[in-house]
Amino acid sequence: MKKKIAIITGASSGLGQEFAFQLDGLMGGSLDEIWLIARRRERLEELSKVLDAPTRIFSMDVTDERDMDAFRETLAAEAVSVRILVNCAGYGLMGRFDGIPVDEQLGMLEVNGKALIRMTYECIPYMCKNGRIIQLASSAAFVPQKNFAVYAAAKSCVLSFSRALREELKEKAIWVTAVCPGPVETEFFDIAEKYASTLAVKKLVMVSPQRVIRDALRDSYHKKAVSVCSLPMKVFRILTKIIPHGWFLSVMGLVK
Ligand SMILES: NC(=O)c1ccc[n+]([C@@H]2O[C@H](COP(=O)([O-])OP(=O)(O)OC[C@H]3O[C@@H](n4cnc5c(N)ncnc54)[C@H](OP(=O)(O)O)[C@@H]3O)[C@@H](O)[C@H]2O)c1
Repeated sequence: MKKKIAIITGASSGLGQEFAFQLDGLMGGSLDEIWLIARRRERLEELSKVLDAPTRIFSMDVTDERDMDAFRETLAAEAVSVRILVNCAGYGLMGRFDGIPVDEQLGMLEVNGKALIRMTYECIPYMCKNGRIIQLASSAAFVPQKNFAVYAAAKSCVLSFSRALREELKEKAIWVTAVCPGPVETEFFDIAEKYASTLAVKKLVMVSPQRVIRDALRDSYHKKAVSVCSLPMKVFRILTKIIPHGWFLSVMGLVK
């Protein structure tokens, strides 16, 4: 009998941790294990203590080739059936492109983009029928963002990849949802504000992680391609489809 599992990257904080809480409440009883992934082991151990479902901790860097090879080997060695994969590991840095060290800029592509794609690739062979893949993109994926250029580019890669993959995996009855929140109250901003502070307007539309994840799980359940939480972000998304992006960039350049 295959072990029924959920896999969550970025589970040590913020949205990943909230996914663990809510998945535990919604489907913990029907899962044999929740696999929690992040670099900070002690955080994962604390989380594990408060979840009802049994957990397995993977203290690893999703950008590290050897860590990912070891994870792939574990997947192959265990008889698992992946019910849900949630790719939450990520970070963003605000500020001018030429004012942030290039390795930190490239790191955003590595974690948000490349590692998410690799994790998805490794898990697909073990996904069950009617399984779910939830990818953390962002509302920054909808339009290029001045002073958040690489992050927005990385998230636009996640959104595009997830939508295409969704079409490919339909025939296997695996359903992919890209989650595109606006600003969410998490530790994300502790890192994001290392070189520049957040626009005041973003703080005005900030939402709780609980709300984002509640909507994301509901949208994933309903097999939606994209999950956008909160009215301002839904309106923002519509505007980015109507207004030419060049105009958008000019107007957003004036916003404080
Ligand atoms: N908060 C927002 O406003 C917002 C809005 C839209 C989208 N998002 C996206 O949502 C996702 C989660 O963000 P969050 O708000 O929950 O931020 P967060 O609280 O800072 O959590 C980020 C998570 O990613 C993990 N992580 C980062 N680099 C990693 C690596 N190399 N290997 C393994 N794990 C790594 C961190 O764990 P360790 O440090 O322990 O490794 C942490 O668990 C990100 O993809 C972010 O871009 C956030």
